Amino acid sequence: MDDQVDTKIRIRFLTSGVDDVEVPAGSNLLRMSIRYQGGLPFKCGGGMCGTCFCKIEEGAENTGPLTGKEKKMLTDEEVAQGHRLGCQTSLNGDVAVSWIPLDQRATPGRKPLK
Ligand code: FES
Repeated sequence: MDDQVDTKIRIRFLTSGVDDVEVPAGSNLLRMSIRYQGGLPFKCGGGMCGTCFCKIEEGAENTGPLTGKEKKMLTDEEVAQGHRLGCQTSLNGDVAVSWIPLDQRATPGRKPLK
């Protein structure tokens, strides 16, 4: 018998107001946003475009390590401020995430800063 517990974590999508989404630990942030209509913008889903640029407002300690694509895309300052690429971010505990809506970005559909 497998006694492994299916640990659940919570995501709060602050910008869209989609609150308390419960997902399995280890989930990918963008995939869970798509599944539960969290509203995080995206295009490529593969760490190439920067559209999913977001900020982990709470629970940064509950995210997986930066991927190589994030290290290329994000500045040290952005990382220090809690920014991530949602499509590259795995979740090990509760988080709250915000982002700049596409229509408020200088270059819509792209990473808003740099
Ligand atoms: S959706 Fe393109 S980098 Fe994440």
